[in-house]
Amino acid sequence: MLKTHTCGELRTGHAGQRVTLAGWVNRRREHGGLIFIDLRDRWGITQVVVDASRTPEAHALALRVRGEYVLQVEGVVQVRAPEAVNPDMPTGEIEVQAERITILNPARTPPIEIAGEHEANEEVRMRYRYLDLRRARMQRNLILRHQVTLYIRNFLSERGFVEIETPILFKSTPEGARDYLVPSRLHPGKFYALPQSPQQLKQLLMVAGYERYFQIARCFRDEDQRGDRQPEFTQLDLEMSFVEREDILNLIEELMTRLIEDVSDKRLVTRPFPRLSYAEALERFGTDRPDVRFGLELTDVSDIVARSEFRVFTGTVEAGGKVRALVAPGCAEYSRRQIGELEDIARDAGAKGLATVAVRADGTLRSPLAKFFSEDVMAELIAAVEATPGDLILMVADTPSLVNEALSALRVELARRLNLVDPDEMSFCWILDFPLFEWNEEENRWDPSHHMFTSPRPEDTPLLDTDPGAVLSQQYDLVCNGYEVAGGSIRIHNREIQEKVFALIGLDVEDARERFGHLLDAFEYGAPPHGGIAAGLDRLVMLMAGEPNIREVIAFPKTQRAADLMASAPSEVDPEQLEELHICICLDKKPAGSGKGS
Ligand code: AMO
Ligand code: AMP
Repeated sequence: MLKTHTCGELRTGHAGQRVTLAGWVNRRREHGGLIFIDLRDRWGITQVVVDASRTPEAHALALRVRGEYVLQVEGVVQVRAPEAVNPDMPTGEIEVQAERITILNPARTPPIEIAGEHEANEEVRMRYRYLDLRRARMQRNLILRHQVTLYIRNFLSERGFVEIETPILFKSTPEGARDYLVPSRLHPGKFYALPQSPQQLKQLLMVAGYERYFQIARCFRDEDQRGDRQPEFTQLDLEMSFVEREDILNLIEELMTRLIEDVSDKRLVTRPFPRLSYAEALERFGTDRPDVRFGLELTDVSDIVARSEFRVFTGTVEAGGKVRALVAPGCAEYSRRQIGELEDIARDAGAKGLATVAVRADGTLRSPLAKFFSEDVMAELIAAVEATPGDLILMVADTPSLVNEALSALRVELARRLNLVDPDEMSFCWILDFPLFEWNEEENRWDPSHHMFTSPRPEDTPLLDTDPGAVLSQQYDLVCNGYEVAGGSIRIHNREIQEKVFALIGLDVEDARERFGHLLDAFEYGAPPHGGIAAGLDRLVMLMAGEPNIREVIAFPKTQRAADLMASAPSEVDPEQLEELHICICLDKKPAGSGKGS
């Protein structure tokens, strides 16, 4: 080794020892005949002192050293004078008196400030990711990620799970996004699809008798990017045989609880995790991934406002829409501008407007709608939403889904403005009893709400023939701080039900055979009842690290436009490569929009 100790290791107990350190120059300062170098490696920073009067050769060399040079320093550990102690550094009580310095490699001036707090812009960070990753914050995140996967592997191995790798070059395994395709050279005109998840393969492993499988699995989805989505991401994927929903929920709850408590410095708020039905989550929070660290619940006021004279409200209710309300506590004196900002958020979420009623501290009302409301109806409205003097009532009228979208966005914004969230809290909840299908207006057919292998609740199976929209499923989602961190289900293990589901989502027997024949066949050779779940590892680590975006916990992420700016991927390829693959490029056709997320 080119070093005897790390830069985070030395303490007063090492005083007098001769050591060799190696690392990067974090900072360098000159003080007359002394040069101070903060030498950095993965483990920390140690101050090196170079004294011109004692080691003129080392001093001459240190004069040439710049930030991010790679050095090897031999010297003696000495205790710092009391006034020179730096209590903010773990190594702040000592320094290394350099005797010999070797420049292992010089460095150009980096385009990213590595030692400082100044954040480079996103594009520069992505282009020079290897420099960005030198920063303490990024090192902390990636090391946390390692600790999380290690913890998960141990936890599951202790419980009899086997980690099994499944192929990346495979056949389409849809999860609701568009596939990434890989052309086959040996089979001209044919393509592999990168898996959107190992879903089919883990079910096949259950048929194969492994009973408890897991994998830290890479998944690929060509869909619109957001802060919590990447085209390739990692799941903790698992599947179990002979289980019921309760077994999976308990296992994951224990894993999450212990993981957060043992590996992160976040606080777990509620245990056991609260459970909400999908319907209840929408009713109370307007979303199936509610942040339950704060209240601000929604109230349906359709029946009350239907008795007002406000045409927007009465018209919406007559047309089968909803009017729902959210109370912003203490916001009655919001200015026109502040209300405008809230309205913009509602409009961005698709709402046509935002109606407000301010219940002022003196009990008087301020509202553009006041003239359309009788005193009685207004009083009923205020009572229904439980507004008290000082509060601002926000209302949106539209289709139920648009109302929910707008109000759930406002709910999150208000919590931020009113400081209702403790960033150190992690608050989980389970969402259960999802509908098995969603109606697809455009295609005039049912889509699976989760994926097509999710089992209906046994008591709802007869409804598959009569009222598919009313069938609830055995899907479960785990939500934390407003993010969906895991999703799974008890699966269909019966061929007849699987074929019925395929038919309802518009896959005829032949299509289904073509795409999933292997799975349908497997179900005829003794498939055990099984179920599983997959957690988004990137999202989980993001929350544990307190980061706002999953890019901050992925070593080499892609941009919003699914590009790698460092390596310039995707890129053009040699014509010979295309020829081998029997592919010709035709750029004049417009590509279709990207796929819907799952
Ligand atoms: P699902 O599609 O819900 O389920 O995915 C599971 C979890 O993966 C995370 N996730 C993502 N993370 C980052 N970027 C993305 N583009 C992305 N998409 C999903 C989410 C999500 O909860 N096979 C099923 C699981 C099962 O049924 O066992 C599946 O993939 O945190
Ligand atoms: P208008 O009649 O369009 O001037 O709107 C009067 C008030 O009602 C304004 O504050 C609008 O933002 C609000 N408003 C309009 N449409 C809706 C809607 N669909 N839901 C809630 N408020 C609305």
